[in-house]
Amino acid sequence: MTISPNVIRHKAAVTRPRRETLNGHKSVNLWFTGLSGSGKSTLAHAVEERLHLQGKRTYVFDGDNVRHGLCGDLGFSMEDRRENLRRIAEMTKLFLDSGVISLTAFISPLAEDRARIRDIIGPDDFIEVYCNCPLEICEQRDVKGLYKMAREGKIKNYTGVSSPYEPPADPDIELNTGTQPLMECVNMIVDALRARGIIF
Ligand code: ADX
Repeated sequence: MTISPNVIRHKAAVTRPRRETLNGHKSVNLWFTGLSGSGKSTLAHAVEERLHLQGKRTYVFDGDNVRHGLCGDLGFSMEDRRENLRRIAEMTKLFLDSGVISLTAFISPLAEDRARIRDIIGPDDFIEVYCNCPLEICEQRDVKGLYKMAREGKIKNYTGVSSPYEPPADPDIELNTGTQPLMECVNMIVDALRARGIIF
């Protein structure tokens, strides 16, 4: 974490535990990692829908949206991806404090960067969800037509094509998003939240 000199933190009286008590559930971060087209955003939104219907406070951040605003100045070099993920991790930390269950869907291709994210957010509040979907399936889906452009060399540093993706060695939850039905994946995540005592 970057510490700014001559800036003194203000201690709030309304704290995370008080917000969690008001909400009737704990806050946590579900961090979805996987290739572009692996189903991260679809799954994050489907989990959010289920939790919202159960009266839980949630918010989804995904790369395709955040990169238009907060991270609109960043590209896809490894340095820019690292900065993109650092900003999201710091924001996620604020959301934890606000009592919300945040769902963050970013490729987050490097193990080293994901370790940094875990450090910033804190290991107890970070649940790594690996959306494991073979590149061939992501590429077949090619919902945004970006794989085709990457293969034609029109987009540089495209994850899986001309930029690496390092699968998590020990994710908290691993889903086969190429073959497993969406609702089965949603159930697994919601069950994990219940098992951890985040929701009741
Ligand atoms: S990350 O690597 O920094 O975690 P992020 O999840 O924010 O990436 O953004 C990924 C999205 O940006 C993809 O789903 C895709 O739509 C778009 N995109 C555009 N260019 C690239 C690229 N070179 N590599 C990967 N995704 C890209």
